[in-house]
Amino acid sequence: MRIVDTIRRKRDGARLSDGELRDFVAGVTRGDIPDYQISALLMAIFLRGLDSGELGVLTDAMLHSGRVLDFSDLSGAKVDKHSTGGVGDKISIALAPAVAACGVRVPMISGRGLGHSGGTLDKLESIPGFRTDLDAAKFRSLLGTLGLVLAGQSDDLAPADRRLYALRDVTGTIESIPLIAASIMSKKLAEGIDALVLDVKVGGGAFMKTAERARELARTLVGIGKAAGKQVTAFMTDMNQPIGHAVGNFNEVYEAVDVLRGSGPADTRELTVTLGAEMLRLGHAVDDAAAGRARMERALDSGEALECFLRLVTAQGGDESVFTREPRYAPHQQTITAPRSGHVTTIDAEAIGVAAVMAGAGRARKEDRIDPTVALFVHARIGDRVQAGSALATLHTATAEPGIAHRIAGAFAIGDAPQAAPRLVQETIS
Ligand code: URA
Repeated sequence: MRIVDTIRRKRDGARLSDGELRDFVAGVTRGDIPDYQISALLMAIFLRGLDSGELGVLTDAMLHSGRVLDFSDLSGAKVDKHSTGGVGDKISIALAPAVAACGVRVPMISGRGLGHSGGTLDKLESIPGFRTDLDAAKFRSLLGTLGLVLAGQSDDLAPADRRLYALRDVTGTIESIPLIAASIMSKKLAEGIDALVLDVKVGGGAFMKTAERARELARTLVGIGKAAGKQVTAFMTDMNQPIGHAVGNFNEVYEAVDVLRGSGPADTRELTVTLGAEMLRLGHAVDDAAAGRARMERALDSGEALECFLRLVTAQGGDESVFTREPRYAPHQQTITAPRSGHVTTIDAEAIGVAAVMAGAGRARKEDRIDPTVALFVHARIGDRVQAGSALATLHTATAEPGIAHRIAGAFAIGDAPQAAPRLVQETIS
């Protein structure tokens, strides 16, 4: 079957055969379908969708486009967490070492920034020297010795997703339930895990803007995982404002390290504890979520989790001394102030994410380089009472960027009536 015929058939709403989907993934993996044809089929899938049978075949083909890792010889459960993508989402950086410090192995393979959302890999690479391109032997040895590894997709792990992900980022084809589900689950099922906790973001800064869409994505992800014999729990969590204050790369790592020091913003710590408690439960380290919460809190407050993170940074080539100094950000600092007094009623988290990307914290084209010193700090939260002229956000950029600061200012709505803060964890699906 010629790829152009597959594109036409999906464009016209046909159901793709197993052969068409497998040929497409094989062609993507070999590199012999040009970007424009891959992008056209992605757009057709975005517009027409996939039924559950097509999705199962696409996920399976992507999963088997490379190696499937097997850590069954390492003792204990291997559990990972994945977020569907948000703004200021630095949770993995605090969560993974905290869970590993509690005795559950975490083989975490993360992605790069996608659209307006940041990527854990880009954030980790903002630590000087930190390597995320680990070979299979190094990956296994860190998981064996430290119980933790934070890496990127190697060339041979779900390679089809790597190429599709990079193209989706720049072709307006991200916010599709089947494409997100196949992307996440092909990578996660290739990781050799026993269980998975999913953080499905919902709200203005998420790819899923409504609870209905987020629930559908969560159920789709859980269904694929269960069909593959894994234990999976999905949390639907709020993304109507950035998580914590830091949006960028190194500043987000630094904020995650604050959580590992037993402090950090309340929402960032709460999400770390909630997701970690479930990882510990699925990994059979505790009997229930309450015991998991207590264990996570102890790991954060005692310094065990921080120690685990710092050992990992060193083992992956990073300079852990950066966490002993005050961080330095890009030289141009602009403060975005409240135009009036009142209550913060909404924050357009997507606009904040887009502004951070434009400032250099993300990519507009797949070959763009990220500036790790670009940093945005969002001080105000939904429900806060602010005074006219008080700081809503601070932006650090390489050159003066009044246009970006203006965009950030436009992301805040201030009204007279008090506004309740959104609930962080909205639903649990397992
Ligand atoms: N995370 C992924 O790994 N893939 C997506 O498509 C979206 C979020």
